[in-house]
Amino acid sequence: MFTINALPYDKNALSGFLSENTLSFHHDKHLQTYVDNTNNLAKGTPFEGEDLTTIIKKATGGLFNNAAQVFNHEFYFKCLSADVKAPNGRVKELLLKNFETLENFESEFSKAAVSNFGSGWTWLVQTGDTLKIVNTSNAQNPLTEDLNPILCVDVWEHAYYLDYQNRRADYIKAFLSHINWDFVESNLK
Ligand SMILES: [Fe+2]
Repeated sequence: MFTINALPYDKNALSGFLSENTLSFHHDKHLQTYVDNTNNLAKGTPFEGEDLTTIIKKATGGLFNNAAQVFNHEFYFKCLSADVKAPNGRVKELLLKNFETLENFESEFSKAAVSNFGSGWTWLVQTGDTLKIVNTSNAQNPLTEDLNPILCVDVWEHAYYLDYQNRRADYIKAFLSHINWDFVESNLK
């Protein structure tokens, strides 16, 4: 039985980037629905009691979609920081190694996120010392490709529409200066 995790910050902590209203709908309504649907769809199937990663790698259809959305959202909310931070340590080294400058990384990540058509996610994934920006659609995530996600942004309209309406590029720009780089670093293998 999955339960929703509390946000790792107050709902008004990201104001200027995301409003309390957006976080309330996104976390308390959208994510809660994915959690409830996952529990209901897994009930009475061989997936009941399995962990989220196993369900994501093996399930299909509605159960996959809802379980993946639980993972994606929990991951996304941990990627956000109330403080404006810069990458440091190994993650900074890898960003520079793979993108030459932090500005290049931001530009490529932004381009990918803005051009990700429809609803989906933009990820930074790691394989050894290689970092890649990957777009997925709907609920898809890198775990099914055996890639290690270290950062993601939700580009479903429900993530930003109340604050940015159709201005996804502005949302992505603000996202890039509110990344919890400590969490990103902690995801490196
Ligand atoms: Fe979302």
